[in-house]
Amino acid sequence: MSTPQSHIFVIFGATGDLTHRKLLPALMKTMSGPAEAPACYIIGASGSDWSDEQFRAKAREWLSKKNYSDEAVRAWTDRHLFYTSLGRARDNYEGLKARIEALEAELGLPGNRVFYLSVPPRGYPAAIEALGRHGLNKSAGFTRLVIEKPFGRNLASARALNDLVHQYFDEDQVYRIDHYLGKESVQNLLAFRFANVLFESVWNRDRIERVEITVAESLGLGSRAGYYDKAGALRDMIQNHLTQLFTLIAMEVPSGFNAEAIRQEKIKVLRSVQPLDLDRDVVFGQYAAGQMNGEVVPGYLDEEGIDGISQTETFVAVRLHVENWRWQGVPFILRTGKRLPTRLTQIAVRFHGAPVSLFQTYAPKCDVTPNELVITLQPNEGFDLHFDVKTPGESFRLQTQQLRFRYEDAFGALPEAYETLLLDVITGDQTLFVHADEAEASWALYGPLIEHAHTVYPYPAGSWGPEEAHRLLEGWAVEA
Ligand code: BG6
Repeated sequence: MSTPQSHIFVIFGATGDLTHRKLLPALMKTMSGPAEAPACYIIGASGSDWSDEQFRAKAREWLSKKNYSDEAVRAWTDRHLFYTSLGRARDNYEGLKARIEALEAELGLPGNRVFYLSVPPRGYPAAIEALGRHGLNKSAGFTRLVIEKPFGRNLASARALNDLVHQYFDEDQVYRIDHYLGKESVQNLLAFRFANVLFESVWNRDRIERVEITVAESLGLGSRAGYYDKAGALRDMIQNHLTQLFTLIAMEVPSGFNAEAIRQEKIKVLRSVQPLDLDRDVVFGQYAAGQMNGEVVPGYLDEEGIDGISQTETFVAVRLHVENWRWQGVPFILRTGKRLPTRLTQIAVRFHGAPVSLFQTYAPKCDVTPNELVITLQPNEGFDLHFDVKTPGESFRLQTQQLRFRYEDAFGALPEAYETLLLDVITGDQTLFVHADEAEASWALYGPLIEHAHTVYPYPAGSWGPEEAHRLLEGWAVEA
């Protein structure tokens, strides 16, 4: 299970953005070893009528931006890339099957296959069904199905999609992607919590006052109006990425370091969250025109492709209450938004203040500040532990200082999330992928928010979201 075996990797949606930005660079990086090493043979599949050579030429164009020599790119694409058109109706699965079988025979491959759905979500059901009906759900070796997010639009559609998947594939063949789980800094949350007795022993309601999870983006919509306006920030970010971070922070110690044990604990956390109260626990926002880096940027409603009356949210803050022995009474605040002042993914764990201050006679200069652990997941991955020290000198004053760790100082640049995730798919490790039950538990939590009418408050681009969100976030300050 832990070393790659030679296989065929079919990318549906091979002409799309994800293929050239993430998938091909990650596959070239992780699977371009010496000729005798296990190899990844990629078949691009999509509606476009391309030849192998056209796909290779496009791939060379894409990969040339990635610091490889022209010879290395040419050698890799010539040897590893193939293309099969699914036709305009995207139904040429017999052609695809014949191509896979022919390549397996020609290259002497053992029948290991990965199918990667990098197509718009509305295309998932047809592709899954077609794979099943054409017998491509099993083979002489392994067959694995990779599904990009978003997995469903609500609980009912996620369930329907899971049912369809399970009609043809066993759960252990299925890899639901949440690319946040591939980030080193996110995986490190497990090491941080479960390899360090120091933190685990204070990781509970007795010591922690609240936890704030922020994924801030300075970018706006870009060219994704078609997808984003139907999704919104709750579906696009909260239901998946931020909820993954939340479960990793809140879960109990798993019984082992394996996919099943970890997923079970994550699901338990989700099921312990109290139903959300739309009026009390959630604030939605949408960016209006504003100033960023000295320039005026347009509001969401003026972005290309957006209807001027859209109520889609580009910002969400939500407060979760976990009803279990570890966390009862500790609010978890999740917030994300586009067109915020900076790009920052951060988890701030705020500890209770000291129960009694010894230094009150010296107030106000020696008010005790509660300890805080700030885990920065991107950029500048690392963490800071904030604690009080006495400032040198005669009078007694306190000042908050930080213990600081940065990944880059210790290890240099981190690998891309997709490199980790694709290698895991190829080696058959499901730990960093979302289980069917987990996807459903998350939708069960947020579904009611999506279904009820709610106010969407405007906020100026370049600000930290609508004023109304501050009532959830009281007193919180961001650290860049
Ligand atoms: C994607 C969302 O899943 O994650 C995007 O669809 C978002 O809207 C992106 O910009 C953020 O990812 P990262 O890795 O840049 O934080």
